[in-house]
Amino acid sequence: MQKIIILNFGSQTTQLIGRRVRELNTFCEIVPYNRFPQDDPDVIGVILSGSPLSVYDPDSFQPDLSGIIGKYPVLGICYGAQLISYRYGGKVESAGTREYGRAHLSNIEEGNPLFDGISDGSVVWMSHGDSITAIPEGYRTIASTSSVRNAAFQSCSEKVWGVQFHPEVFHTECGLKLLENFVVGICGSRCEWSAQSFVDSTVAELKQQLGSDRVILGLSGGVDSTVTAVLLNKAIGSNLTCIFVNHGLLRKNEFEDVMKDYEVLGLNVIGVDASPLFFKELEGVTDPEQKRKIIGRLFVEVFNSEAQKIEDAKWLAQGTIYPDRIESLNITGKVIKSHHNVGGLPEKMHLQLCEPLKWLFKDEVRRVGRQMGIPENLISRHPFPGPGLAVRILGEVTPEKVHILQEADHIFIQALRDWKLYDQVWQAGAILLPTRTVGVMGDERTYEHPVVLRAVTSTDAMTADWADLPRAFLSEVSNNIINKVKGVNRVCYDISSKPPATIEWE
Ligand code: XMP
Repeated sequence: MQKIIILNFGSQTTQLIGRRVRELNTFCEIVPYNRFPQDDPDVIGVILSGSPLSVYDPDSFQPDLSGIIGKYPVLGICYGAQLISYRYGGKVESAGTREYGRAHLSNIEEGNPLFDGISDGSVVWMSHGDSITAIPEGYRTIASTSSVRNAAFQSCSEKVWGVQFHPEVFHTECGLKLLENFVVGICGSRCEWSAQSFVDSTVAELKQQLGSDRVILGLSGGVDSTVTAVLLNKAIGSNLTCIFVNHGLLRKNEFEDVMKDYEVLGLNVIGVDASPLFFKELEGVTDPEQKRKIIGRLFVEVFNSEAQKIEDAKWLAQGTIYPDRIESLNITGKVIKSHHNVGGLPEKMHLQLCEPLKWLFKDEVRRVGRQMGIPENLISRHPFPGPGLAVRILGEVTPEKVHILQEADHIFIQALRDWKLYDQVWQAGAILLPTRTVGVMGDERTYEHPVVLRAVTSTDAMTADWADLPRAFLSEVSNNIINKVKGVNRVCYDISSKPPATIEWE
């Protein structure tokens, strides 16, 4: 399949370039700046990303571009454009102050294929500390802004373009059009990457790769593992065995509900209720990191002991997605964080890893899931942390506290659905505080726990803002929780953004 290669120079928006290219139904791979796949016949074009560094910084990334320029169409974005300019004899200088924000394009070269359908005045987003003050000989300026003369340039002899602004970010109005002009118009993409083509080709590959081997998969109720399971089920049917461990820290009725959903999907699932074990080991533990470690260790133990019952298993499947792997690779291509969440099992049982979603972004996983007919309630679920409610119960975790929190959380989440607000927030949940506060109910003084409601908007959980939910909604949820959940007499709403706060309280 045709692909665009994105050379990663470390910009925070590199992943966004990838997502935009995929939105254009074109496959792309993000690779470290010095790992261009020289002999890949499917490459149709190359994009050079931005970077936090300056080209004249002694530590900056300066790969040899000779195997790329002249061979493929190239688009340099921000640092990528500065690098092309710098390496071919242009001049890049510090702009004194960092230029950040909106600018308007002017003097766009008429008929330039990169700006097809884009006119003067179009808003672009700038974020740079350096400026290209002179372009190389044999290049020409093809667009400017009021403060940046060389906002875009092109080689007169090769298919090489550079733009100082960021076409990948949402605020650049003509950004997707510009990328389309490059990817489709200039590189000649046939736009053959779609959810359906992914399902067809992946199922065929899995059939070939796995043959009649047995595969084990850990299910969590989340969208990634569910889509992985359904893909594998399509490819190998009953040779897939899924294991769903209930650690007792899930949402109200979640284990039972999700097991039913999986049954409807025709998956072969072993549900293991290990909650007593988790509660026993969590007794008296208050430190958040220790809680996480205990839960992680027990999860692996329970999963492994179930998995080992499937004696002839040859593969362990995981719902690893593309951003997990990009984050795992630092810019030099070295693995800095392992994402294997079932520790030790592959080596112990001599299992090979199968990760069919490893090329997909989260929104693509959802599209693939919908394409395969997975119900919307499984597809559009909010993210939920692996250690579950344990990181939303501050202090010691007990079955009683889990019960209180499950009830409060259920009222909150159900109300979000009833008010059609569920899909407008990235993630929501309730937190149970270990302190107690005084209240009054009827003629009685109460001394109970406060519950905090947390709802955030976000696109990737790296940054988040508190959701500005309607007052009438919050008021209804607060009344319902205080009236219906025994053990709670006060409800607060968390109005902290990330950073400096985090989404979870622990
Ligand atoms: P924070 O709290 O770091 O959360 O802003 C960012 C995203 O990660 C989720 N999260 C976790 N997921 N194990 C997980 O599987 C964890 O220990 C964990 N802690 C946070 C959180 O729910 C949010 O989506």
